[in-house]
Amino acid sequence: MKILGIETSCDETAAAVVTDGGRVRSNVISSQIALHRAHGGVVPELAARGHVTAIIPVVETALREAGLGRAQIDAIAVTAGPGLAGSLLVGVNVAKALAYALRRPLVPVNHLEGHVYANWLTLPGAEPVPPPRFPLVCLLVSGGHTELILMTGHGQYRHLGRTLDDAAGEAFDKGARLLGLGYPGGPAIQRAAAEGRPDAFPLPRAWLGEGFDFSFSGLKTALLRLVEPYRIAEPAADRLKTSTPFVEHRPPRFRSDLPVADLAASYQEAVVEVLAVKAVRAAAAFDAATLLLAGGVAANAALRERLDREVIERLGTDAIPVRYPPLELCTDNAAMIAGAAGFALKRGVQGGWEVDVQPRLALVGQAQR
Ligand code: KG4
Ligand code: ZN
Repeated sequence: MKILGIETSCDETAAAVVTDGGRVRSNVISSQIALHRAHGGVVPELAARGHVTAIIPVVETALREAGLGRAQIDAIAVTAGPGLAGSLLVGVNVAKALAYALRRPLVPVNHLEGHVYANWLTLPGAEPVPPPRFPLVCLLVSGGHTELILMTGHGQYRHLGRTLDDAAGEAFDKGARLLGLGYPGGPAIQRAAAEGRPDAFPLPRAWLGEGFDFSFSGLKTALLRLVEPYRIAEPAADRLKTSTPFVEHRPPRFRSDLPVADLAASYQEAVVEVLAVKAVRAAAAFDAATLLLAGGVAANAALRERLDREVIERLGTDAIPVRYPPLELCTDNAAMIAGAAGFALKRGVQGGWEVDVQPRLALVGQAQR
């Protein structure tokens, strides 16, 4: 079975073709990063308009790269939520139109489930890896979400914990903004941190007891206090101009002796340590056979290394495997949506014409705060 996946939940317009065995045949992403960079973050209306213009060429390219015509597609999968309503609407409507015209099943997919299922995909030319074993604990870390999930089988999720304030990716993005490193923040902090010492600045970790919830807003405030003495004040008129999202975002200006690398490394370490320690603690508490990492922040090298180390130190060398998707499948893409749909279709999940966008869709039961 060949599934066309469409993803437009945030600022990437993406389409992909994946077989129901998880083999990626094509994976096309049109990034809007350049469009939003000037504003220091994603502007929802610009994102939605960007999808409107990019979506058809992106779908056509995905089909062409897979060597398939429209009629050879067996199902259409699309992200229904969570995400920006205007952005989601573009993908859902195009997917519906295609499903209607081609008379194929429409499969609405939860974006978060897509991130999880990126771990079941095999890229073109790559050797297939054995599927992750259940029960597994998944640390799902993206720009909008930070969740610890127990997965007991396909489509079976139990909530263990989540962030009480900022998501891990959001913490990276806000930290990068405070340091004047630009957008998107995760890769920028990782790059700057490579030259720095992670123990240079003692930044706070919100352990919140033995539970599995997270909090990153205090960390952000601590970083703000550290950079403030190095900041070069801007004239009041300029500050006013930067306060609306449609005016060009100006990065803060600092004295040349701002220890950017040490601050980035210490900040990254503070985020990564809490994530890794809690994930491994959860894996031990629930006897997980696999520890899975998913979402954009799963691309972070320090997080991957720390998880590997934490598993060895706390659970022993021959303990459970830590699995993460190939780098290009960590951040938003449509292959993960088509991949998740393959498993959903096997469970009989299919959408009707009433499928609507669900901007606040959660992975497990209750709606997000
Ligand atoms: O999953 P994703 O592409 O979009 C959402 O669903 O939110 O995640 C994007 C987030 C951004 O916050 C970005 O800064 C972060 O993932 N990110 C990283 C790295 N690459 C992307 N964070 C840390 N290190 C990275 N290398
Ligand atoms: Zn995402």
